[in-house]
Amino acid sequence: MGAEPVNVNEFEELARQALPKMFYDHYSSGAEDQHTLKENVKAFQKIMIRPRILVDVSRIDLSTTVLGYKISAPIMIAPTARHKLAHPQGEVATARAAASCNTIMILSYMSSCTIEEVASSCNAVRFFQIYMYKRRDITAKLVQRAERCGYKAIVLTVDTPRLGRREADIKNKMIAPQLKNFEGLISTEFSSDDGSNVEAFVRNTFDASLSWKDIGWLRSITKLPVLIKGVVTHEDALKAIEVGVDGIVVSNHGGRQLDYAPATISVLEEVVDAVKGKVPVLFDGGIRRGTDIFKALALGAQAVLIGRPAVYGLAAKGEDGVKRVIEMLKNELENTMAFSGCPTLKDISRNHVRTQHGILH
Ligand code: FNR
Repeated sequence: MGAEPVNVNEFEELARQALPKMFYDHYSSGAEDQHTLKENVKAFQKIMIRPRILVDVSRIDLSTTVLGYKISAPIMIAPTARHKLAHPQGEVATARAAASCNTIMILSYMSSCTIEEVASSCNAVRFFQIYMYKRRDITAKLVQRAERCGYKAIVLTVDTPRLGRREADIKNKMIAPQLKNFEGLISTEFSSDDGSNVEAFVRNTFDASLSWKDIGWLRSITKLPVLIKGVVTHEDALKAIEVGVDGIVVSNHGGRQLDYAPATISVLEEVVDAVKGKVPVLFDGGIRRGTDIFKALALGAQAVLIGRPAVYGLAAKGEDGVKRVIEMLKNELENTMAFSGCPTLKDISRNHVRTQHGILH
């Protein structure tokens, strides 16, 4: 591709050209038939926008707040593992891009730069994502390190009692050590019969017995707000409120865990209706356009997270690539708001989207 990319999908193509096949496959693929992976994107295409005309849209304001922190647009960086596979500067580059766009990055537990390196790389609001380890002391240590380094919230990912069966990683015999946060704590080197050492790491260390009662434990070891990531039903949204979480992320892990889990945009409204505004609802899965963000906001999300788009930007052009991906999505969202008669995010309502029968459950 000679010309500069003009949208997120073109960044994906640049990333594919830049990366070794094993790493591109690791980032882009999903579990098993990859049905959920594809549906996350396709379900957006079944939602139409109902634009309103003759509204003064000479000034558009994209800014919003998440847990009280002001950000320039409702677009945050989802936690994704091992950014050094995409670019030598890894999460430090991603964090700097997020900071320069004045938005929040959620650093992954499985990052290839440490909590401390990312914290000292730039001044910005950051959250830290965790999985629950069998050894609670390891989880506690990481949470406390994040708190000490000024991260503002803990995001507990709850859709990973084991790793989704990602067949590309198995075939490629994906080897991905580089889990810098664990150095000096535990070994991250596990070998596997079926090829992917990512799966072996998860099987050996993640706690599959994690249940609702453990949220209380997590809350007891930190003063930070706790969000849970991986809710796709109203039943679980209600439970999450009951146990006192401070926020919910509607997510199916970008189609990498349970295949045939519903497309996240198809269940967002169900969760939002159950939550009734008690805590913020964030959203991820399949965001590739500003129109997608508009649709998620119309269905009640406070903000969206981008996973693969940020990684593709990083792989293609480092820090500048991540920044350009965020800026592209911001510009597209701004355009959508102008065309739809919504000068501020508060003006985007349920009435601005039309869903085909059967899309929302
Ligand atoms: C992820 N995701 C993820 N989630 C999480 O909670 N912790 C993690 O370490 C990771 N790692 C990770 C690696 C890669 C390569 C991908 C693609 C995804 C899931 C991520 O946070 C998010 O839910 C999805 O990526 C959102 O979907 P899109 O934006 O990629 O379509």
